[in-house]
Amino acid sequence: KKVYIGVDLGGTTIKVGACNGEGQLLYKFEGPTGTAEGTERVLQNIADYVRKVASDAGFAWEQVVGVGIGVAGFMDFKEGFMHLSANISALNNVAMGKWLSEELGVPIKFNNDANVAALGEVWGGAGRGFEDVVLYTLGTGVGGGIIINGKIHEGGAGMAGELGHLSIVPDLEAIQCGCGQQGCLETVSSATGIIRMAKDAVERGDRTSLSLLESITAKDVFDAAKAGDEVSLRIINRAAYYLGKSMSLVAVTLNPQRFIVGGGVSKAGDILFDAIREVFEKFTPAKAKENVDIIPAELGNDAGMIGAAGLLLR
Ligand code: BGC
Ligand code: NA
Ligand code: ZN
Repeated sequence: KKVYIGVDLGGTTIKVGACNGEGQLLYKFEGPTGTAEGTERVLQNIADYVRKVASDAGFAWEQVVGVGIGVAGFMDFKEGFMHLSANISALNNVAMGKWLSEELGVPIKFNNDANVAALGEVWGGAGRGFEDVVLYTLGTGVGGGIIINGKIHEGGAGMAGELGHLSIVPDLEAIQCGCGQQGCLETVSSATGIIRMAKDAVERGDRTSLSLLESITAKDVFDAAKAGDEVSLRIINRAAYYLGKSMSLVAVTLNPQRFIVGGGVSKAGDILFDAIREVFEKFTPAKAKENVDIIPAELGNDAGMIGAAGLLLR
């Protein structure tokens, strides 16, 4: 029996799963990324967790076909070279592929965290049965994954689907993004962006129930909006506006059959999705939105691991 290891490498945690040849998750483990402790620590953590998962799942190392890794950031997937990962700064300019394949002695495949999640959703989630799908993940950053003809579209330098860095906010309102540009979708529609807009409102002295909180999470802003807080509602609508607008740009560029939205922020549900759909409806030509639904992701926390293991499978 063979085992395929999938790694979801995030800013705070590394999730590692052992999958069988059908892409079913047999065993999983999660541990700290350790980015504050530096490059070697992060790489060593990945290797240690991978070995641990293989053996705890009851496999001999010889049964491990390889390791698939989904990770946020601008990366050369083939070389396994990370250029810029804003959320895992210890990995910037690091030859991860070289280090890990020498350490583990098995093939290592890399791809972007959102690309891999998109693949997972098409195989066994909200995109089942579709070949052309675009996924957004709304978390610390905004990720994007483009599936064309059932495959991840990487583009010339692996930058295809970096939808969080669509520079879409008008210049006068644009703020700096971790990628070096300004006005990126991520600056307004990520959890980080929502929290920033909320803090700005509180600091400005806007009348909002958020000003009563010790610290503000994106969920607090959604809860307040649902309870009728006008300021929170405005923030959510702004996040949704740019998401919907970006989808209309993507619709006339790629004409996907489905938009899937996942990540922590998507848990907000109808209040977010209805607002996105309204904007998408407004800006998209009839034929480009025909039968195109904007729907929540179905695979929760395991999508990244499964999709990453899948890099070795197909
Ligand atoms: C990164 C992407 C990533 C996304 C979600 C963005 O800031 O540029 O590579 O997919 O965050 O993690
Ligand atoms: Na992507
Ligand atoms: Zn950016």
